[in-house]
Amino acid sequence: MKVILTSQTLTKQAADAWLLFVFENDTWKAPDGDPLARRLQKMVADSRKVFPGKRNETLWLPSWQALPARSLLLVGLGPRKEFHVGRLWQAAASAGRTLRDKEVETVAASLSLPSGLERLGPARFAEVVAEGMQYGFYRFTRFLTKKEKDQRPNRVVFTDASAGLTKRSDEWGKLAKAWEAFETTRDLANMPANEATPADIARAARQLARRYGLACRVLSADELAREGCNAFLAVGRGSRNPPCLITLRYGGTKRALAPVVLIGKTITFDAGGLSLKRAEGLEWMKYDKCGGMAVLAAVLMAKCLELERPVVAMLAAAENLPSGTATRPGDIVRARSGKTIEILNTDAEGRLVLADTLSLAAEYKPAAIVDLATLTGASIVALGHVLCAVMGNHNGLVEQLREAGERCGERLWPLPLLPEYEEDLRGVQADLKNISNKGAGTIIGGAFLKQFVPAGVPWAHLDIANVAWVESPQPYAPPGPTLFGARLLIEWLRRYRPPS
Ligand code: BES
Ligand code: ZN
Ligand code: ZN
Repeated sequence: MKVILTSQTLTKQAADAWLLFVFENDTWKAPDGDPLARRLQKMVADSRKVFPGKRNETLWLPSWQALPARSLLLVGLGPRKEFHVGRLWQAAASAGRTLRDKEVETVAASLSLPSGLERLGPARFAEVVAEGMQYGFYRFTRFLTKKEKDQRPNRVVFTDASAGLTKRSDEWGKLAKAWEAFETTRDLANMPANEATPADIARAARQLARRYGLACRVLSADELAREGCNAFLAVGRGSRNPPCLITLRYGGTKRALAPVVLIGKTITFDAGGLSLKRAEGLEWMKYDKCGGMAVLAAVLMAKCLELERPVVAMLAAAENLPSGTATRPGDIVRARSGKTIEILNTDAEGRLVLADTLSLAAEYKPAAIVDLATLTGASIVALGHVLCAVMGNHNGLVEQLREAGERCGERLWPLPLLPEYEEDLRGVQADLKNISNKGAGTIIGGAFLKQFVPAGVPWAHLDIANVAWVESPQPYAPPGPTLFGARLLIEWLRRYRPPS
């Protein structure tokens, strides 16, 4: 989708649809006072009886040729006093989803912002709205033999732009490329486990690396064995599809800077191994690769946006199945760091692949490490599906990530990673066990990982299990992966400074 900024006022802008954001039970004011604007304002006012403007609610209205736009699309933002960027992004995505089958080519929206939105500023407003809409257009059609037509709008015009804003067309070009990379990765994330084995993901990652101009390296199971990554390898033993570690590297425009390493849990299917999960809902475990998919999207987007900082993305890929060769509960392995682990529950597999990947990350002498993982069902108990748990060994880093989350709408909530929790993981016959039985499941996951973080490196862990996918259709997204974390990492990297 092409983004155009113009100084023209909205009421003079011909379009298939005008996009109007409205707060719940709040009067909507037209951007200026000409007769057309007054007509528009009346149409909106009349519609408010049936359209209170709850968040993500949309109303599609014909203009009956009374306006230069064929139709109006009203989008609810919810109450003004609850507003945050995520509300706007989601509302824009809901608008995009509504527009998918409306035969609309050009959408227009005004940058003359009402109170409650003006704090965001017109530049950021345009970016969030365009990005949100783009997100809402998405469909996964790969396996549909009868393809639905892709009728997404191809142009969005932001009106009432000041002179300085109208010039940034190269920036918009970069953003459009980044959105495309995001969407391609979302397709990969959607792939079922029979078509997205670790080797399939490695192949796809190599292709993407070539297409976008990144370095890519894949460590095979044999090479992982030579590196001593026995915790990682323990997870793949039950599957015929061998594990691998996929690394993509973006050199940054300031190549001498220490890289940020992003690590993603990429379990292509998590049946639990011999600690088998129950059948109900098991199909969703094809999305246990979403941490890896989010960091893949992030490194591709970093390249598209030509960010300063070098970025390394490490995807720890394995399939967790039960079989005669699978790791057994009670098995003991020596991780790459030298620590031994009693695997008491083979379903706590994410932390095992991540432990060895964290050790390997040290080779890059990283400025910081952030891992994203669908690690614990307990994150759903703690936070529902609203925001994502973050923890780490460095408060400054956690705070930076939290702030980036507030700026882009992918929000984080810190959990305390206290030494007491690490005690709960002390093993009996080995240094560590991979589960504890004292509650705090999400923190325990983080406390386990912490013990494998290279010394002296700021590290944060995002447990995205509660936000990585949606299971029922939402106004802003179809069931499937959200790629939660990719936009957040980009927002963080864009303003990266070493955390203090
Ligand atoms: N992939 C799951 C976590 C998960 C569960 C993600 C539900 C999304 C929805 C993870 O590998 C897992 O099975 N974790 C266990 C940990 C437990 C054995 C300590 C869990 O959450 O039950
Ligand atoms: Zn898992
Ligand atoms: Zn599991």
